[in-house]
Amino acid sequence: MAKEKTLNDLFHDTLKDIYYAERKILKTLPKMARAAQSAELKASIEKHKDQTEGQIERLQQVFEILGKRAQGKTCDAIEGIIAEGEEILEEYKGTAALDAGIISSAQAVEHYEITRYGTLKRWAETLGMQDAADLIDQNLQEESQTDEDLSTLADTVNKSAAG
Ligand SMILES: [Fe+2]
Ligand SMILES: [Fe+2]
Repeated sequence: MAKEKTLNDLFHDTLKDIYYAERKILKTLPKMARAAQSAELKASIEKHKDQTEGQIERLQQVFEILGKRAQGKTCDAIEGIIAEGEEILEEYKGTAALDAGIISSAQAVEHYEITRYGTLKRWAETLGMQDAADLIDQNLQEESQTDEDLSTLADTVNKSAAG
């Protein structure tokens, strides 16, 4: 019979998923910043790269609270989202629509992070780990703010993409 699993196991597994995703994102953001044509978009992606380093450190603190080693677990969802983003970089290279495409991929990444952090925060609270919930909430707030900033940037970028 399968070993009994609890919310604790689900929390730990999902933490590994987002830890893997954040480290993958950290490697991908410089590529997106280099490709971006708008100086504002470039700066915004670079700023989020620095934030991502801090987010990874917070996740390491959450692993510590759990008494577990910080360890990632392959996240197929982020692999797929990033692969689609890379496809846009290739297919729209040198075109007026490139930045609009970069923003769309970046927002897909943010939304994935937001759904994971929203869930993890709620689970941490249920499990009575308020310190972990607070750390996760800080990441969640940064992702939400980044998503909003990208929406604002999109207003300008999309107009020039429309040609
Ligand atoms: Fe992140
Ligand atoms: Fe993010």
